[in-house]
Amino acid sequence: MRKKIIAGNWKMNETPSEALKLVETLKPLVNNPDVDVVYCVPAIDIVPVVNAVKGTNVHVGAENLYFEDKGAYTGEISADMLLDAGVEYVIMGHSERRGYFHETDDDINKKLLKALEKGLKPIVCCGESLEQREEGITEDWIRMQIKIAFKGVSADQAKGVVIAYEPIWAIGTGKTATSEQAEEVCKAIRETIGEIYDEATADAIRIQYGGSMNAGNCKELLAMPDIDGGLIGGASLKPDFGTIVNYNK
Ligand code: PGA
Repeated sequence: MRKKIIAGNWKMNETPSEALKLVETLKPLVNNPDVDVVYCVPAIDIVPVVNAVKGTNVHVGAENLYFEDKGAYTGEISADMLLDAGVEYVIMGHSERRGYFHETDDDINKKLLKALEKGLKPIVCCGESLEQREEGITEDWIRMQIKIAFKGVSADQAKGVVIAYEPIWAIGTGKTATSEQAEEVCKAIRETIGEIYDEATADAIRIQYGGSMNAGNCKELLAMPDIDGGLIGGASLKPDFGTIVNYNK
């Protein structure tokens, strides 16, 4: 059985002092031993949040990393910096980074290889636009994103990766994919991993759904056989996040 993973993606929200308040508010609400709970926070919040969650079940993630080890890359953050600050997980390939910051599938592949080499746990995002869905190319598109992201990744490494399926049209829009739509693509992602590697890898890898997941719709989404968790934006900044973490209670 795959353990569910519920991750908050705080995006560009919460100053360091606001972050500490949010951690305090959520503390009594996010205790569920059946679930891995992760807060993916802005770089400047990492150190205070790592300290604030000490002794709790919460793991800390970053929202991005750079694929070079060190050097003249103004504004970027390396895997070693994240690890030294106490980060365990790292998001890569979010559609906002692909869209606003021109990240390519190739960049995401380099980031995935670097995170795995260094021992960070990657959360690799993929997802189609509304136009692509309407053109009927969703699954082809996602398969391509996954195949490029996983180039050079071994089966053993792939087993520890988390994939987040996030339809772009559902992010921050309040328009959630139906649980059937989400399941259909998550299943296709698992089949793709099975084609690249083998059945054992496909069975082990965890696949999240993301895109307007909230306290009201989480139960139905998380009941689907190929949905192993959620990547949650808006609702991760509110007590609702606790309801999502405790979806099985
Ligand atoms: P949302 O964001 O929950 O606000 O739709 C999800 C995400 O972008 O990870």
